[in-house]
Amino acid sequence: MKGIVLAGGKGTRLYPLTLSVSKQLMPIYDKPMIYYPLATLIAAGIQDILIISTPEDLPLFQRLLGDGSRWGCTLRFAEQAAPKGLAEAFLIGEEFIGKDDVALILGDNLFHGSKQLEQLKQNRKPKGGQIFAYQVKDPQRYGVVEFDENQQAIGLEEKPAQPKSSYAVPGLYLYDNTVVEKAKNLSPSKRGELEITEINQQYLAEGKLRVTPLELGATWLDTGTIESLTAAGQYVQAIQSRQGVLVGSPEIAAYRSGAITKQELQQLATQQAESDYGKAINAFVSNE
Ligand code: G1P
Repeated sequence: MKGIVLAGGKGTRLYPLTLSVSKQLMPIYDKPMIYYPLATLIAAGIQDILIISTPEDLPLFQRLLGDGSRWGCTLRFAEQAAPKGLAEAFLIGEEFIGKDDVALILGDNLFHGSKQLEQLKQNRKPKGGQIFAYQVKDPQRYGVVEFDENQQAIGLEEKPAQPKSSYAVPGLYLYDNTVVEKAKNLSPSKRGELEITEINQQYLAEGKLRVTPLELGATWLDTGTIESLTAAGQYVQAIQSRQGVLVGSPEIAAYRSGAITKQELQQLATQQAESDYGKAINAFVSNE
């Protein structure tokens, strides 16, 4: 399975922070935002990953992430010239995806503490589309899924004024290879974007969409506003200082998924030994 991290957009809701730097490079506590979704893909055992961002921001991501080899994966980079929607990722990534299945994760989404996501490595082959649902207070900000009394998904709407449930669709999507053709069927929505919700509607109409609610105790945060960015930073700080375990570390995800050895992890810690982040990886290695 291939992986795509979509880290485009102008980040206008974070101006002036994002006037000169990409939103997905903003810090969430001790690491850049994009580390979190990357760690989620790496933890799922995905080793071939495409990073999509704007032409201006791509060089910054390349400088930060390199070719991925230090984390046991291959990173490639592609441009999204204008924010034309999440589903455009499958058109930009068509060649990269080739004949494989693909997981798309949004560069501003942070997942933590979900057993179901932790088990993705063993169980990630989608028979069609696999998406998730998460209970939120403000579903109208998201794609919303409607369930029948048997917990079967029966409808999906993008940012409905009157949501039919409180279950939002988080920004992690696993699809079989037909997603590329499905993306080609789309035309821009009222907000001028190719909508991922319309891809999901196509899978649902075929009877091939699995919607798995994440456990109540799992965390899903999106970090596109200053409120949510700050809250995410505080969340990570609280968990890490309490448990002494890093959240969203690609290094540790790579080690746990078997992509790098303990010795390689130790080297990565040593290279960043001056920072608390490096020290935390070092402490992790010592306890292994
Ligand atoms: C996008 C999707 C939406 C999804 C959300 C998750 O919203 O369109 O369906 O629930 O990501 O973060 P946007 O970021 O474009 O507002």
